[in-house]
Amino acid sequence: MSLLENLQWRYATKKYDPTKKVAQEDVDKIVEAARLAPTSSGLQQFRVIVITDQELKEKIVPIAWGQEIVAECSHLLVFAAWDRYTEERIDKVYNYTTDERGLPRGRFGSYTDKLKASYLPQTAEENFVHTARQAYIGFGLSMAQAAELKVDCTPMEGFSPEELDKLLGLDKKGLKSVTLLPLGYRDNESDWLASMKKVRNPKEEFVLEV
Ligand SMILES: Cc1cc2nc3c(=O)[nH]c(=O)nc-3n(C[C@H](O)[C@H](O)[C@H](O)COP(=O)(O)O)c2cc1C
Repeated sequence: MSLLENLQWRYATKKYDPTKKVAQEDVDKIVEAARLAPTSSGLQQFRVIVITDQELKEKIVPIAWGQEIVAECSHLLVFAAWDRYTEERIDKVYNYTTDERGLPRGRFGSYTDKLKASYLPQTAEENFVHTARQAYIGFGLSMAQAAELKVDCTPMEGFSPEELDKLLGLDKKGLKSVTLLPLGYRDNESDWLASMKKVRNPKEEFVLEV
């Protein structure tokens, strides 16, 4: 199937069959799509947390506005972004990149100086607006990869990030949760959305030709 056919196939699954588990190989590919996502200045300002522990998934239900899908799904992915930029974080990425490419450290020094001059004077909240945007790029690619593998998923913002960060100890890792992505297989019988038409704005309205 083509990418567009896969995107037609996918939908925000509302009911998972809790007996069906996604193969580790497929979960790995879905996470790999996020890892390969392009990010601003290549900083990869986000991480993916993979949750399989059933007790932990159940603890997240009340944090996720009572949405049972986070417990019924096979794997729950949490996309979390850096809580702020720091000199160390920027340097670590660029040192790694230059080392991997066999270039001298500092090769991109004037560029990283510009990044630091731009991000470090901002508030942590302003930084997080930017880092969270990068997480959404990976989030989108993971959804597309899941669709290609015929793995169902549900993009989710319906949760309390503060409570989730506390539960997962993300604050101690310098991360803040951005989105959730339950993975699994749809329960065709009881998912009210499974048989509904996909609705999008008509192309004429969506595309502005100038
Ligand atoms: C960023 C984002 C957050 C969303 N949050 C939720 C959510 O918390 N719970 C839910 O059931 N659906 C959620 N959705 C699903 C959307 O309602 C759904 O993607 C949209 O209506 C389009 O339908 P489709 O994905 O089935 O094609 C979210 C989607 C996105 C992209």
